[in-house]
Amino acid sequence: MSNYHIKHLEEYFKTHRKSVREPELFWEEIAEEHFVWRKRWDKVLSWDFRKPEVKWFEGAKLNITENCIDRHLRMKGDKTAILFEPNDPNAPAEHITYNRLYERVNQLANVLKSKGIKKGDRVCIYLPMIPELAISLLACARIGAIHSVVFAGFSSNALSSRINDSECKMVITSDGSYRGSKTIDLKGIVDEALIDCPCVEKVLVVNRINAEIELKEGRDEWLAPLLETASTECEAEIMDAEDPLFILYTSGSTGQPKGMVHTTAGYMVYTAYTFKNVFQYRENDVYWCTADIGWITGHSYIVYGPLANGATTVMFEGVPSYPDYGRFWQVIEKHKVNQFYTAPTAIRALAKQGGSFLEDYNLSSLKVLGSVGEPINEEAWHWYNDNVGKRKSPIVDTWWQTETGGIMLSPLPYITPTKPTYATLPLPGIQPALLDESGDEILGNQVDGRLCIKFPWPSIARTIWGNHQRYKETYFSAFDNMYFTGDGALRDEVGYYRITGRVDDVIIVSGHNLGTAPIEDAINEHPAVAESAIVGFPHDIKGSALYGYVTLKEAGEERNHDNLRKEINQLISDHIGPIAKLDKIQFTKGLPKTRSGKIMRRILRKIACNEMDNLGDISTLLNPEVVEEIIKDAQQ
Ligand code: PRX
Repeated sequence: MSNYHIKHLEEYFKTHRKSVREPELFWEEIAEEHFVWRKRWDKVLSWDFRKPEVKWFEGAKLNITENCIDRHLRMKGDKTAILFEPNDPNAPAEHITYNRLYERVNQLANVLKSKGIKKGDRVCIYLPMIPELAISLLACARIGAIHSVVFAGFSSNALSSRINDSECKMVITSDGSYRGSKTIDLKGIVDEALIDCPCVEKVLVVNRINAEIELKEGRDEWLAPLLETASTECEAEIMDAEDPLFILYTSGSTGQPKGMVHTTAGYMVYTAYTFKNVFQYRENDVYWCTADIGWITGHSYIVYGPLANGATTVMFEGVPSYPDYGRFWQVIEKHKVNQFYTAPTAIRALAKQGGSFLEDYNLSSLKVLGSVGEPINEEAWHWYNDNVGKRKSPIVDTWWQTETGGIMLSPLPYITPTKPTYATLPLPGIQPALLDESGDEILGNQVDGRLCIKFPWPSIARTIWGNHQRYKETYFSAFDNMYFTGDGALRDEVGYYRITGRVDDVIIVSGHNLGTAPIEDAINEHPAVAESAIVGFPHDIKGSALYGYVTLKEAGEERNHDNLRKEINQLISDHIGPIAKLDKIQFTKGLPKTRSGKIMRRILRKIACNEMDNLGDISTLLNPEVVEEIIKDAQQ
């Protein structure tokens, strides 16, 4: 018997022990009892972190959409699968049943096929949070095409580099999107991106805002008329367990974003299992994750995990501040949401508005609150617990990554006693370790180190698209025979984990992972700029914000620095997106460097964080004098 649904703390410990002692047996039982397969696997797991190579359920054949849709039709055909809440609070919500989802996914799958998309082709999806977004993922999966969703807040440059990296043949987009009181011209962004994308043959356009747009002859088509005539039946492509399901880009500390590749069977099993347990989802619950499907949280915990469990998953098009800061609470009341999963940055922004926006709404349906994307500070944790959960709904602080595919560390609600700011314990199947800088595992409790994972879990990303070497270097080279997360963590006296933050040059701003290198590259394109360095500093809503140190080519540059600041932020917006704009820009005569020419970000970070008395030894620098100057200017 599998332990698919854990109900007590003792059962959790027992299950975790079993998953460590007999990982293959553990996952095999779950896979066998809770999913439908076209053919059983020959081998549960083969792995070698030194290569690195990980394969789960090799030899098995399946289609993930049969698990997320078809198998629910008999018993739950009329149950709401996707509950769409539009941006406009006065527009009606849309309840898409499993029956209807089946038809709509198949229709789109047939359209994709008719436009020449085949198994293994890459399809870029650049859509707002509307049902067509979730349906596009599933339609790709239905026919074995690999989806690559790009968050619709990214700029045309960011979009084109992602499209080209994985050579997408098609883009699915919309004429525009609603964002609070504004509309955004998505199609215009796509048109600009595609100037540099020779690989794209077709663009399908959803009509969302009735915008007047140009359709490029031979390339662009409105989607709706194509769907109308498409059949609602589409045979599912039979996939191998290890066939890629999707690519999703995430920032690295250096270079271009990394196209993380997730494969089919392991990803399905792990996201479904963790969804069930972390949210303690029960039949008829209404579950709402506020993330965008452009991020991994949306892939795993709006689409695949919930649907594999036959759940009702809310998709929200809007923003927490429109028409006012009560919007989240209004949606919770309206749809009687039971599980609510959001990010610390949203919690902090809402907390800042005080409790008055909450007072008008009945939140008594809530059973579980979730947090994801960055460390949740103690104040935000308590505000969430007191005001939203009324101290009755446990908070699950879920730690994981794009690369891990699913939640790795988290309390189980009503089972694991929670502790503010702690992601607490590993889920079954997860074997965390803390390592010191020399690569030795730190045993025992009340210790801190670099967080690694010792053993593969089913939804680990298998590679970086087109660059396996980078995958190896980034995740498997820092420590021997371990997956390195890039995060630091501590383990308290009872063995609970707390994430202390990134130990590399990735900065998490409002829950978005940003690498410093691409931002610096964008800044350095400004003709007046010689060099730049980005660091993070604490921000009361965003968690971290970006601080840029910029040196100009001509010392004593006469230009108006405020204009220069605007131009720099515009460049960043164009290259990456508005999310990567700098909060502070300091012009400096030089950047502190080691004798080998490496920028000493540690020092810059301390200055940005106002920790000047604690700079450490700077005498070995190539140019210690610039530090004094930077400090002086920073304090002005
Ligand atoms: O630093 C950790 C932080 O977010 C990083 C992963 O970002 P991304 O791949 O964009 O995925 C975010 C959604 C899963 C991690 O390396 N992070 C994520 N969740 C938490 C967190 N830090 C602290 N606590 C968390 N609960």
